[in-house]
Amino acid sequence: MPAGSLLLLLSATLPAMPQDATSRATPDPLTAVDGTACSDAATWTAARRPELLELFEQHVYGRTPAPPAFRCEISDQRSALGGDARRTRLKVTFHGNGAELETELLVFQPAEHLDAPLFLGLNFRGNHTVVDDPDLPVRATPAGTPEGLGRRAPESDRGERARRYPIATILDRGFGFATAWYGDLDPDFDDGFRNGLHPLLGAGPTETGPRAADAPGSIAIWAIGLSSYRKALRVLGVESVAVFGHSRLGKTALWAGALDPGFALTISNDSGCGGAALSKRKQGETVEAITRRFPHWFCPRFAEYAGREEALPLDQHLLIALMAPRAVHVASASEDAWADPEGEFLAARDASPVWGLFGLRGIEQETSPAVGEVTGEQVRYHLRAGKHDLTGEDWRRFLHHADRVFYASR
Ligand code: GCU
Repeated sequence: MPAGSLLLLLSATLPAMPQDATSRATPDPLTAVDGTACSDAATWTAARRPELLELFEQHVYGRTPAPPAFRCEISDQRSALGGDARRTRLKVTFHGNGAELETELLVFQPAEHLDAPLFLGLNFRGNHTVVDDPDLPVRATPAGTPEGLGRRAPESDRGERARRYPIATILDRGFGFATAWYGDLDPDFDDGFRNGLHPLLGAGPTETGPRAADAPGSIAIWAIGLSSYRKALRVLGVESVAVFGHSRLGKTALWAGALDPGFALTISNDSGCGGAALSKRKQGETVEAITRRFPHWFCPRFAEYAGREEALPLDQHLLIALMAPRAVHVASASEDAWADPEGEFLAARDASPVWGLFGLRGIEQETSPAVGEVTGEQVRYHLRAGKHDLTGEDWRRFLHHADRVFYASR
């Protein structure tokens, strides 16, 4: 009996599983909604890519407002990390609809290599938490809550999250690093979209009734902010950018990478539901759980799929596919069941055929790599041992991947 028939026979006798190595996530990334098979890169790019973007705008993150206008100003530039780095505080002021929003992008560049490719990502608790530097103002609130808004974070928060960002190593490896506080772009609580960038983009509350089913949520706004920051970095001579994010900011990095082809590499760390994990598996966090606790992250329509994920006309492998032919890296942690590591692997695997159309290799193995292992090329996946976190081991994998993307010859 040919191996294929054995496989068929086996899968026919097995009980229905949420998603196993022999079944593929649906819908098929290579078949357009009207049934057209996309068997070459040009057809996929012209027909499939735009409709996938549209599906995610309508059903998950909300439609994308026109990019906001902004101006940049260097508020402080000095030598850092013992002279190996140039550290810049870039004031990025967004304006629109008669309002302004001031934000700050903190940038480290190798002093001898100012046009080095750079990792850009948002942080959870303020720029002063990313590095222990007494010269950085403590200006963010302790948490994105209504109570915290406008309250100054304690001095003790300085460098409190530095462990997650090995900036010296990143620079030593020939890359820059830039970060901004996500709460500057949109505070992370449901305030009816009155704060952050929403009103400047015409995406705030309406006078006439409930928000449209496809009105953009916070992930959309954070993603647009990342895209603006990528452009702002040109002021400092940076052209090549990898976007990264952990957890909810990993979801954000994926949507930013999907929307903005200017990101050469997109990195999702432990992004889970609404990020790299397949929704239809309903493992770990479900659409019901996430839209109940964090309704403001998504467009209102996403909540309609709570408990009925099978009705979604998409799944998250198609979000990863939107990065093609650019590079993408999905990272999971073995004990992070809430983010469904297996679902993250399967999404990366099932997006991979799209890279084949471009003559590139994604993930070719059927089953998840063992804990501590990595797999794939232009689409890559690693499974770290341990909990939901962003660690040195994750960065070691990201740097290795970035070497291939930005320094292919080294
Ligand atoms: C919660 C949420 C996740 C999210 C995470 C985070 O656990 O349920 O979806 O990724 O917070 O951002 O830390």
